[in-house]
Amino acid sequence: MNIALLGPPGAGKGTQAQRICHEFNLAHLSSGDVLRAEKMAGTPQGLRIRDFIDKGMLVPDDLMIQLMLEKILALPGGFVLDGFPRTVPQARALTDLLHDALRPLSLVLNFVVNPRVLSHRFEGRRICPVCLSVYHVDSMPPRVAGVCDNDGHELLIREDDRPEVVRQRIELYQTSTGPLIAYYAQLGILKTIDAGGSVDDVSVVVLDKIRRHFAQS
Ligand code: AP5
Repeated sequence: MNIALLGPPGAGKGTQAQRICHEFNLAHLSSGDVLRAEKMAGTPQGLRIRDFIDKGMLVPDDLMIQLMLEKILALPGGFVLDGFPRTVPQARALTDLLHDALRPLSLVLNFVVNPRVLSHRFEGRRICPVCLSVYHVDSMPPRVAGVCDNDGHELLIREDDRPEVVRQRIELYQTSTGPLIAYYAQLGILKTIDAGGSVDDVSVVVLDKIRRHFAQS
């Protein structure tokens, strides 16, 4: 079972990816987490990546494809990709790689959320700078305000969650990632998810869609 998640920034892809992986015993690979880890490592490549992420721009396709394809091939079994692919060249490179490896994508879930709901999600998001766990001050608060449940580190606001950067990310999503919806619809593996409800409500819909899809195929 190999699944990819599409959806605008803040749609809840990372949150639902964790639940899908837990339910179906899959590996979770988030391109944002891969890039943030590179950025924190402070290598020349990490510094280059930081310039793109902090401005809300996409990391160039050649670098992204090089970083992600190797990691995807190394995954031992079924997986959920969150944030990759994000452009048509990335999608084509992924299709070719998985075709050659006889591990094609079986399902792509497209998360759709009203923009007003999205801005509330950005405003309240907090992340642990060490283990990268994601919280929300209202909908997914930590046990102690401002502190990571897993390792006790102080939670931070993501640099790219500033309103002006968020605007840029959403615009880029529409122009660069929007065409992927047609790309995967044409392959016959796209399903749409109304992701505007609570975390638990969206999970019920997502897990049910996945079960039905695999029961029919
Ligand atoms: P990335 O980290 O992938 O960011 P994104 O796609 O913009 O998605 P987000 O992480 O913002 O949101 P999400 O949908 O995962 O939502 P989450 O679950 O956190 O990428 C960051 C940057 O890296 C990009 O801008 C780009 O520069 C670069 N990049 C990454 N991939 C790339 C690629 N392939 N090519 C080029 N560049 C790339 O939820 C959001 C908040 O809402 C959380 O606080 C959560 O607790 C809360 N929440 C979630 N679901 C719900 C719900 N149902 N109800 C209430 N609250 C909810």
